[in-house]
Order: sequence, then structure tokens, then C-alpha cells
Amino acid sequence: MYTSAIEKALAVAFAQYPVSVTPVLSPPNKNGGGDFQCNSVLQLAGRMKMKPIDLAHEIAAKLDLEGVADVTVTGPGYLNFILTDQFVEGVSRAAALESSVVKVSAPETVVIDFGGPNIAKALHVGHLRSFVIGESLRRILVAVGHRVVSDIHYGDWGLPIGKLILGIEASLEAVNSFGVKLNPNWTLDDLGGFYRLGNEMTKSDPAFYEKAKDNTLRLQAGDPDLRALWSRVRAISLAGIEGHIALLGAHFDTLDGESDVDPLIPAMLDDLFKAGLAVESDGALVGPVVDDGSLPPVLLRKSDGSYLYGTTDLATIVDRISKYHPDKIVYCVDGRQDVHLKTCFMLASNAAEAGLAEFQPLPRLVHADFGTVNDASGKPYSTRDGKPALLDDLIGEALAKAREVISDGTDADTARMVAIAALKFADLSTDRRSGYVFDPERMMSFTGRTGPYLQYACARVSSLLRKAGDDGRGGPGVIGISHPADRALAVEVLRFPAAVHRAAVELQPKAVCDAAYDMGTALSRLYAEVEILRAPDGEREGRLALMKWAADTIGNALHLLGIEVPERM
Ligand code: ARG
Repeated sequence: MYTSAIEKALAVAFAQYPVSVTPVLSPPNKNGGGDFQCNSVLQLAGRMKMKPIDLAHEIAAKLDLEGVADVTVTGPGYLNFILTDQFVEGVSRAAALESSVVKVSAPETVVIDFGGPNIAKALHVGHLRSFVIGESLRRILVAVGHRVVSDIHYGDWGLPIGKLILGIEASLEAVNSFGVKLNPNWTLDDLGGFYRLGNEMTKSDPAFYEKAKDNTLRLQAGDPDLRALWSRVRAISLAGIEGHIALLGAHFDTLDGESDVDPLIPAMLDDLFKAGLAVESDGALVGPVVDDGSLPPVLLRKSDGSYLYGTTDLATIVDRISKYHPDKIVYCVDGRQDVHLKTCFMLASNAAEAGLAEFQPLPRLVHADFGTVNDASGKPYSTRDGKPALLDDLIGEALAKAREVISDGTDADTARMVAIAALKFADLSTDRRSGYVFDPERMMSFTGRTGPYLQYACARVSSLLRKAGDDGRGGPGVIGISHPADRALAVEVLRFPAAVHRAAVELQPKAVCDAAYDMGTALSRLYAEVEILRAPDGEREGRLALMKWAADTIGNALHLLGIEVPERM
């Protein structure tokens, strides 16, 4: 594959040093110049305790890239590659015939945890990012060759369920004593109402709080009536979010919940206790996390005997090890759960080190954390009464805006694709760790860094190719580079595979967004700077082929972001 000529030469040079650092290619930084850049020398220098600039010159001299690229060293020790023009044309032709993303040489098994939305509640703005980022990471990891298991990790086993049952019981009582009619076909909305009621009750009276705790305990202990009620609630919840899963194009290999690992908990707690990793404290069982003391212990069992989400999160690690033997588990979860996850990871790693078989071999546990979706004032997006906005509301706003901006006569399917593209690209194009402002106006713009802009770039090339077929002068031929704007576009497309790999390594879909946008702007520049359909023979078919390749690659990039491309816009 095209950049692999450079990557291979780099790998050979890096392998001559006794520490293992994988060289990664990136687009050059603004003042770096060149077509590609490699900043990994800095990392290698750190490990080798060498001055980066010296090491960079040493490696540059070793690289065998005759006829491929010239190498320069800039900044603190960046390697810059300037491809020869001939190489650009040659590799573009070859690359256009292949799948654009190379597979990794050592594929891994990766479990992606999609955050764990709680049952009986409508999805809200906080879940948007888990689904959008999680699905994009899933596609990116699959594209580079990893085996991926995506799991929703349904939150269906803790105190929230006890509160929900409390709300249901209170509502049923009201029915009996006042003869109010209750719709027997509960929807997710009804469940949300029951949960809110139960939650309010526990706040208003400590006795209700005890009742909710007791419900949780009886459910976990296997009370048949509560189990039956719970199964019904779970089924309604699943049906209720199916629509969101489909609309957001998320794919789950398993829809397991916290409850599914319940059978593993007693033995696991026993082992942790025996190994001295969990201790009794006021009747409760806690897992002290032996770190530098900055992390709180994990609460594993309350004094009443019920379990918490730390317990199920640990048992889920055990479950995933036995089912999938993963090399890595990626938790696509809100950054505000950082401490919770860190403590679980630490306890799991202590358990593995202490020799507990069920925690071995322990996969790398990675929190792919993300920031909040905010309103214009920078606060987490919420409804007027301060509750987190519902996912439906956000999608509704995006759909309304899409219908407003796309031309009359465009079908509903296109409006949906545009709305989802706007929503997803706005989310994925920021560093996932920072929050971003939800602004339908801006994310739907056809001129900015947006999903619809890139969809339009693809649709525009489709229409150009249709026209090219109509004027009797023929369609795309073999890719040709005749103008600096052609070369600039080709180089952007050549940069795409490295961006996908970077996204996979850093778990940052932003890298794919940036690459897609850079291809999009290089494509726009071509329209502005050169003739296309009226270009002379010999140039026209080469340029059309280049543009088709670029549009196809933008389409691939959008696919990795979970965005569909309409044929016409
Ligand atoms: N269901 C829990 C909640 O909403 C989040 C679980 C976090 N853990 C995880 N593995 N995703 O509070």
C-alpha cells in the first residue's frame, strides 16, 4: 500500500533501536511543510534517552526511500517526507484500485462497552456520544482488521431498578384505591414516569428509600414476582431503544446487561475476599484500591447484601475474559465516570496480579472518555427545567433544521441522512475528551466543517460524473496529475489510511473527520482553480478519475463515522 513504503522504511529504521516504538505517520503540522510527517522520533528519543533532533537526523540518514520521497528534519525532531511527483501519480493510480485501509499486522480482539444506559429511562443527551463515538470506533477498529465485540452493557441491576419497582407498585396501588385506569401496554415513557415517581418517593421519605433498597435486594436474590416484572420492564426498554439504535446506525453484537453477570458475583467476591483485596467494613464489602491513596475503594456489596455497579463492572470484566479473551476493553463512557472506572480497573489489575484466575489474562482496560454536549452558555445541554435533554429532542431539532436547509423536493430519507450526518460530524470532529456546543445552525451549514458539507462534496462529484457521461467526451480514465491542485488533492487522499490508523490507535474518530474535511476542501479548490469538464483531452479523464477516487474515499471516511451519503442532494 502506498504510504506503507514510508511506514516500512520507518519500521526498519526504528527496529534498530532496543526499545519498541511504532512509528506513526501524520499529516504535516501547519509550518512543517512536506506531504507526510512522523513525530514518533520524539517518543523513541525519550525511551532511548537521546536528543530527539540528533536521533531524527540519524534516522533520516538511515531511511531508504530512493524515488519515493525526500526527507527533512524540522522542529524538535519531526521527520518530513516530500513525495516525488511521479510517486504521487503512480501510487494514486495503484491506490485507487485497492481498499484504502491497510489491516494491522497483529489484529486484536477488542470489546467496546457502549456506556451502559439504564433501562426504563428514555435515552438522553448523555447517551448520544456513547452511541455515536462507540459506533465510529467500532467501524474504525473493524476497518483496520481488529475483531470487535460491541456490547451495550445495559444498566439493569442496581438501586435504580428498586426505585422503578417502587414507582410501579405505588401506581398500581393508586389504581386499586382510586380506580384510575392504567394502560396495560406500558411504553418506555410509562416506565420513565414510574421511575421518576419512585425516585421522588425515596427522596421524600427514608422509609421509601429502604423499600427501594429492599426491592433491589429481593430482585437480586431471585424473588419470582419481581423477576417477572423486571423481565417485562427490560423487554419494553429494549423495544423502546431499538428505534434509536437503528436511527443512529449503531450495531451491538450483544445486548447483555449488568444482570447477566449476576451468577458470577458470589464466587468473584469470595476470591477477592480470600486474596485480601476486599475487606468487610460496617457489614459492607469494599475493595480497597491499593494505589497511592488518591482513589476511593470500590463498594462491592452493601451491608444489606445488594450489589452495585462497581460489582457488576468487575464481574463483567470476568465474563468478557471468559467469553471473548479480549486483548483490550474500550469503555466508551462519559468522562465524569472516570474515578469509578479507574477504581474498577485498579482492583481488576490487583486481582490479576494476585493470581486470581478469573481475572487472567487481564485485557488492557481503556476508558475512551468524552466530554459533555453543551448549550451556548457552555453548560450541559438540558431542558428548561434543568433535566438532561432527551436524545429524541436533539434528533428532532436536527431533523427540523435539515428539512429547512435542503432543497425542496428532497425525499425524507435524504433529510434523515443529512440530519444524522450533521449531528454525528459535529460530535466526532471535536477531540472526544472536550465538550462541544450543540448548535443545529452551525452543524448543518453546507460551507463549514460539517457532515452535510462532505455529503454534498460526494453528491456533487456524482452529478459531475453523470454530466461527463452525457457530453460525449467520455468519463473518468486513469488518474492523472496535471496541476498543483490535482497533486494537492491526491496527497490528501493518500493521507487518509494513516489517519484511520491514527484514529484506531488513539481511539479518536476526529482524525478521520479531519482527513475527510481536508479531502473535501482540496476537492473544492479543484473546482475553483481548474477546468474539469472543459479541460483538454488527456487532462480531463485523468482529473475525473482523481475526483471520483477522492469522492469515494470521502464516502469511505463518512462510513467510518457512521454517516451515509445520499446520491443526490
Ligand atoms: N449504568 C451505569 C449508569 O448509568 C453506568 C455503568 C458504567 N459502566 C460501564 N461499564 N459502562 O450509571
